[in-house]
Formats: sequence, C-alpha cells, structure tokens
Amino acid sequence: FNKSGIFVERTLALIKPDAVHKANEIETILLNQGFTVLQKRRVILTAEQCSDFYSEHYGKKFFPSLVAFMTSGPIVAMVLAKENAVHQWRELIGPTNSTVAKETHSESIRALYGTNEQKNAVHGSDSEVSAEREIRFFFPNCIVEPIPMGQPAKDY
Ligand code: TYD
Ligand code: MG
Repeated sequence: FNKSGIFVERTLALIKPDAVHKANEIETILLNQGFTVLQKRRVILTAEQCSDFYSEHYGKKFFPSLVAFMTSGPIVAMVLAKENAVHQWRELIGPTNSTVAKETHSESIRALYGTNEQKNAVHGSDSEVSAEREIRFFFPNCIVEPIPMGQPAKDY
C-alpha cells in the first residue's frame, strides 16, 4: 500500500548464488529505480524446494543443472513493491540469457552481474499470478491480498 492506502504491485526477486556477493550493489540499483524492499531473506534451497519453485521447467534439458546451480549456495529472496512491479522488475533485470543481455541491454542487471544462460544473477516473477505464488513460496506469512479498506482494523 502506498501513502493513500492504494494497492501497490509486488513481485518476487531472487539474487542467485552467482551474484550474492554483489547483493548490496544490486539492492542499491533497485532502490535507485524506485523499488521498495518489503521483505528479505537469505536462504539455501534444498533440491526438493528448488524443483518445486521451478516446477514449470521440470523435464526440460536444463532442469537438472538449473537445480544444481540454484542450490549451490545461498540466495537472497526479496519482495519488491513498485507501481507495475512485475513488469518493471523484468525490464530492469533484462533478458534471461546474460550473454544476450550484455549485447542488447547492457545496463540491465543480468548484463552487469550475470555470465550466461544459466548464471544470470537474478530472478523475477513473470506475471502477477507467478508473483503471488512465488511470494508465498518464500514468505508464507506475507499478506498478498489487498487489505479491505473502510472496515474496522483487523489483525492479519
Ligand atoms: P526461464 O523461466 O525461461 O527464464 P527467466 O528466469 O527469465 O524467467 O528459465 C528459468 C531459469 O532457468 C533461467 O533464469 C535460467 C535457467 N535456464 C537455463 O539454465 N537454460 C536455459 O536454456 C533457459 C531457457 C533457462
Ligand atoms: Mg521464468
């Protein structure tokens, strides 16, 4: 919610194992771009948790190496808020493949901090539906629905 009580969109960002040592720099960039960090956790995923998070990619040829990479060290999960957050964060991170990003979106986070199609520094939810699921995945106690206004205050 912003100052006037209007719903502000949220998205899930991950700083992946290859870029965790640059987490402070990446956070400075995103704050300068007008994102607010609502929640933050540093975690190490198990292979099972990671497979669940990336279940849409199960069976693809890159899936086993994706899981191996994403469980190779700590990651930083953040709930970001901004107007149009899902789209704006995807714009800021750039194309999936960091090699492509360096050529076509040289200022993007994946261009600046990633290496290739797998080691691409960061994750961003690809839709509002994905964002809700992914926020719940990392922050099960986080309120995702807008709180109804004009009613007696209620504890959540
Ligand atoms: P995907 O959801 O297609 O990309 P994005 O992260 O931009 O939403 O893929 C998920 C992750 O899987 C991606 O960030 C990096 C990894 N990946 C590979 O390792 N190889 C590939 O060929 C693809 C498409 C993705
Ligand atoms: Mg994706």
